[in-house]
Parts: sequence; C-alpha cells; structure tokens
Amino acid sequence: MSQAEELRARILELTREYTALVHAPQPFVAGESRISYSGRVFDEAEVVNLVSSSLDFWLTAGPYAEKFEKTLAAFFGAIDFTLVNSGSSANLLMVSALCAEGTSNAAGGPGRLLPGDEIITPAVTFPTTLTPIVQNRLLPVFVDCEVGTYNINPALVEEAIGPRTKALFIPHTVGNPCDMALLTEVARRRNLWLLEDGCDAMGATFEGKLVGTFGAMSSLSFYPAHHMTMGEGGGLVINNPDFKKVVRSLRDWGRDCWCDPGCNNTCGRRFDWRMGELPYGYDHKYIYSNLGYNLKATEMQAAIGLAQFEKLPRFIEARRRNFRLLFEGLKPLQHRLELPRIDPRANPSPFGFPITVRDGVDRRALINHLEGAKIETRLVFGGNILRQPGFLDIERRVHGSMEGSDRIMRDTFFVGVYPGLGDAQIDYIVEQLFAFFGSR
Ligand SMILES: Cc1ncc(COP(=O)(O)O)c(C=O)c1O
Repeated sequence: MSQAEELRARILELTREYTALVHAPQPFVAGESRISYSGRVFDEAEVVNLVSSSLDFWLTAGPYAEKFEKTLAAFFGAIDFTLVNSGSSANLLMVSALCAEGTSNAAGGPGRLLPGDEIITPAVTFPTTLTPIVQNRLLPVFVDCEVGTYNINPALVEEAIGPRTKALFIPHTVGNPCDMALLTEVARRRNLWLLEDGCDAMGATFEGKLVGTFGAMSSLSFYPAHHMTMGEGGGLVINNPDFKKVVRSLRDWGRDCWCDPGCNNTCGRRFDWRMGELPYGYDHKYIYSNLGYNLKATEMQAAIGLAQFEKLPRFIEARRRNFRLLFEGLKPLQHRLELPRIDPRANPSPFGFPITVRDGVDRRALINHLEGAKIETRLVFGGNILRQPGFLDIERRVHGSMEGSDRIMRDTFFVGVYPGLGDAQIDYIVEQLFAFFGSR
C-alpha cells in the first residue's frame, strides 16, 4: 500500500467511525421527538462516498456521475438517464427540449413546440412543473384534480385538447400514479408528447410498469424529502432516443459538442465542422446549437446518490408499509377524513400520506393540533396553483371548473411516510388524529 492509499484508508475508516457516532438514529420519544414529514436517511456508506469523491477532487461530474447515470438508466430500462442539479432543472430541460430546434424531426410526437403551443397540466401542481411551460412562452391548459388521488382528472384530459395542444405534462402527485393506460392512449391517438413529472413517485408502478417510463421523458428529484437524496439533485429518464443529445446539450450550456468533462474530440472532427455562420473548422467545443443552461450536478452529489440507490428498494418498501399502516389505522375516521384513493392497477411509491378533511372539520385546527404534537404536516404543494400570487397573471387556458383543485387547496394536507419513521411514530400519528376528534 502506498502512503497515499494508507492515508486514504485511514480517513475513510475515521469517517465511518464518526458517522456511526454522530449520525446514529435517535430513539423516538412520543410527544418529544419531532416526526418530520420527510428527511434524509443515511449511514456510513453515503458519507464515505462523499469523502472519497472529495479526496479525488474531481468536483464536476466524473466517474461517480457516469456510474450513477448508467445505474439509473438500467433501473428504468431507459435509453438514457441525465443527471442534473434538481428536479426543477429536469422539468425545465424536458419542456425546453420539446422547444429545441432538433425536436422538429423527433419521432413519436407532434415535433417541435413553438411559442403559443399548449401543454395540458393539472391545476394542483408543484410550481416548477408549471414554470418551464410559461418560461418557454407556451400556454398551460389547466385541468382539474381529484380529491383522493390528488392527480389530474384523467377523464377530462381529452376534452381539454385544442387545435394548438402539443403535449401533456403529468405529475404523479405525492407518489400515486395517474391512470397511465388512459393518458398514454390519449397521447398516442391525439399525437401529443407525454412528459411525466416523477419527482414524487420513484419506484411507483402502473400495470407493473415503472412510472417515468410511459412518456418521452420524465423527471426525478433527489432533494432530501424525496425517495433518495444527494442534497440537491435531479435527473431525466429519457425514453425516446431523439431527446438524448438535445437534453445534454441544453444541460451543458447549449453546446453542440458531446465530449464528457475532461475529454476532447469525441466526435473525431473537432476542427472540421461547418455550423451556423461560423468560419469552417470553428472549435466544436464552442459551437452552440441550442439556447442552453448550466444545470449539471457535481461528482460529490453523484457519489452520495450511488450509496442511496443501494438502499432504494428498502426505502420504497418502508414508505409503502407506513402508508398501509396509516391507511388501516385511520379507517375508523373515514366519516371525518377522506383517505387516499388508489387505482387497483397502481402500486404507489408514496411521498406522503394525503388526508382531506370532510365538511365540518377545520383543517387549520387539525394541522395546529398535529404540529403541536410535534407531527409535521405539509399541504399538497401549491394547491390550486392559479390562486398563487406569482401565478395570478400568467397567460393560460382553464378547462372547466377547478372545484376539485380548490377543495384540495382548502381541505387537504399530508403527513410523512418516509423510511425514517417506524411503527412507533406511525402509531403516534394515528393516535393524535383520534385524539383530535376526541375518540379512540
Ligand atoms: C412533483 C414535483 N416536481 C418537481 C419538484 C422539484 O424538485 P426539486 O426540489 O429537486 O427542484 C418537486 C419537489 O418537491 C416535486 O414535488
């Protein structure tokens, strides 16, 4: 062993020891310990990978990132997986890719989207599922959502299609898959691009097929609240080969060159291109064929992500178990609370456990009761996003009534099911909900 190898081994051993000591799970004390709605769950493996990648000091995407992308592409059985710095960036790239010039000839959809073209999307959504539509000068068409599934009402989607509708952008809210049989059929028959926002639903399936594999592209988030984390991070599952190059170009400044970081002349003709109005032979590294961004993630993020991915199956299992326990435990309160509704063809990978209060129950009082008992709650993101201050004035088309979305905004909240919670915490959540209604 060289001196460097020896030092590295010692550093990593100390890292293990330190993590086991400082980040060991704390015992749960009912009423005293906080029950978060979500959070990072990790052990020595993540911290060792983080330190190891830091010692390499590659910094920008390198071998860990490449391995992460390959691992995730294999998990989804996808053409490609593109790592980015957030789920929001993944959404931005998906919509921008539909608008990129190269998409004119992409197979399997209506071609490139132009300003004024429409994308159908639900009114209950995460803001950055919607903003890329607005930022790309497209028109969002809002369809109402359903209490119970908290997803777009699939029966209303086809009737919302207009002459300029070119795409559906469908989030699987709080991890519950939408009716993908109907939505893929409508997209195919009406020649629309289908994008999925899978940020809340990693590992969920519909008719046995993974969410994220139904449309041309899908997004994931690796923010700590999500199914696995790297701090900040996200990715695109690419199912249509025609989007692989354009997505990477848009992520990497809009460049035409597709060399990996640190590589030169992958195309074999670096000084032999004629593009735009540039002089013949202009360095391909500095040719920009798209209006791009820099949305790359780092090597350290990917290193953490690889360790988290190893734990994903048991993370998903724990989320499903906690969800089931809450569902069973709260059944006797169904006259006061509406519990989640799941399509029998779907197997959710729950992000949280959504609850809608029935008439006569004061959501604010209930949330205050739970928060007072140290049980964290969240609302279903933006509620009816059209009522959010930043979205009041956006150009839009609204299809029909937004009754369901308004009710979700008024009456719904969710509690956690993440793998950091075990039976004791779930029992306590149930107990506190019963306590609020004064019965057990
Ligand atoms: C459905 C959905 N889409 C997109 C995002 C954005 O992901 P990020 O926070 O990584 O930008 C989130 C974040 O929670 C989300 O829930």
